[in-house]
Amino acid sequence: MDALIVLDNVAKRFDGHAVLDGLSLEIRPGETMTIIGGSGTGKSVTLKLILGLMRPDRGRIYFRGSDVTRMTEGSLVAMRREMGMLFQGGALFDSLTVGENIAYPLREHFREMTDGEREGRVASSLSLVGLPETEAMMPADLSGGMKKRVALARAIATNPAVILYDEPTTGLDPANCQRINRLIRECQRKLRVTSVIVTHDLESAFLVTDRIALLYNRRIEFVGTVAEAKASANAVVGNFIEGNLE
Ligand SMILES: Nc1ncnc2c1ncn2[C@@H]1O[C@H](COP(=O)(O)OP(=O)(O)O)[C@@H](O)[C@H]1O
Ligand SMILES: [Mg+2]
Repeated sequence: MDALIVLDNVAKRFDGHAVLDGLSLEIRPGETMTIIGGSGTGKSVTLKLILGLMRPDRGRIYFRGSDVTRMTEGSLVAMRREMGMLFQGGALFDSLTVGENIAYPLREHFREMTDGEREGRVASSLSLVGLPETEAMMPADLSGGMKKRVALARAIATNPAVILYDEPTTGLDPANCQRINRLIRECQRKLRVTSVIVTHDLESAFLVTDRIALLYNRRIEFVGTVAEAKASANAVVGNFIEGNLE
């Protein structure tokens, strides 16, 4: 199997309401896959399923060929060590400094790391997102765009194989949007990570991604490269590109 992450015929419902049904998607090592879809279509749920934070009602999810839906808690923890997650809204710990926020997953996942190694990793992650020497700052002192960049630094600090981004550009002004998109591309290039982005920001998706998957009607309606999406005869894809679907 050459795909890194596989979703195979996944279904998920809440209180009798089907959110996903028959969703299948393969994510290849090193690629950037953007899942686009309107609000409430199950994008965040899809990321939580990949992380094993939720289990599907039906279907299988594989990471490196192992079935996430059947993993023990111990195997899930080991898998998540390889995944950096940029949660919607950033979700920094307000009572911790910037440095401690980034050190947090390192303490959790790499208990053998020395203080010096950890400080080095925090500093290099902050440099990569263009915020060097901000370790002592508090989240309250940061703008929305800076918070996202710190959250990205935290996601990359563990040197993950995969970074999952939930709405990385939502709520940002155009300049910060552009900066985050540039950083996502830099992470691809410099760290060679596999990236999974969920967003409803099609313009950003076109800029940063290798392939696009359109989540529509509880499943993947279309998957292809940016060029293929733009040239697609699929009416749903066309409507989405023209902004007729939200
Ligand atoms: N833990 C939950 N309990 C009940 N309903 C949920 C839960 N998580 C998500 N949902 C519902 O699933 C649907 C999809 O949610 P979500 O994945 O957050 O959408 P989005 O595409 O905007 O990220 C929504 O209707 C939401 O209310
Ligand atoms: Mg969401």
